Amino acid sequence: NLMTHSSQSEFAAWLFAQSCEFMLGVAHIKDLPADSHPEVTFAGRSNVGKSSLINALTNRNGIARTSNTPGRTQQLNYFNLGNKLHIVDLPGFGYAAAPKDVVHQWQEMILAYLKGRPSLKRVYLLIDARHGIKKVDKEHMDIFDEAALSYQVILTKIDKLKSAQQNSMLEKTQQDILLRPAAHPTVIATSSEKNIGIQDVRSEISRFVKTFKEDDSNDG
Ligand code: GTP
Ligand code: MG
Repeated sequence: NLMTHSSQSEFAAWLFAQSCEFMLGVAHIKDLPADSHPEVTFAGRSNVGKSSLINALTNRNGIARTSNTPGRTQQLNYFNLGNKLHIVDLPGFGYAAAPKDVVHQWQEMILAYLKGRPSLKRVYLLIDARHGIKKVDKEHMDIFDEAALSYQVILTKIDKLKSAQQNSMLEKTQQDILLRPAAHPTVIATSSEKNIGIQDVRSEISRFVKTFKEDDSNDG
């Protein structure tokens, strides 16, 4: 019963303890599942840690495949969390080892998906804390801003930085997004490996899932 949860973080903990299952991999827009659940999507450069973060959030080691080979995730991978939320693992961008027209086709497909998905609540744009926001990330933020697509920046692999560097990278990234209209003002620093910031991301995402009361009014 969701009503027993006294705070957003408690609700988030409950939500992310629900079973999480791989639903399907989507290679073509026509194969997208029904637009039936609130949905969040993880985007970012290859190897930034998208699949690792999904694993950390859902506490299911290995549900989203991770690897040292950039470009491993080659389709939109859908996960179903407790039949309440869809989580989408996007193929990494900036991966150029595939033939050029294939790369182009992917970008078109992802853009069509992002722009044409009413249930998509937010794009999480992952940035490697060691590198900060790069040109290719800015290009993607431009697209999100132009499409008025709500997004939030997450720093990944924060464990790779010393704590003084962690703070300055967080501040710098915060500054970088300040004037971006569609960006959530708060940047979240995370480590999937050291379990840093994971609860914060869960709390943020859990806001997109209807509460018991809201569900109840729909049920009549
Ligand atoms: P693609 O699917 O190729 O786009 O990559 P991805 O963004 O899904 O990255 P993935 O999760 O596969 O992680 C890439 C590499 O970074 C793996 O070797 C992970 O173990 C490592 N990694 C991911 N998150 C962290 C983290 O928080 N800390 C550290 N130290 N390493 C991490
Ligand atoms: Mg991946």
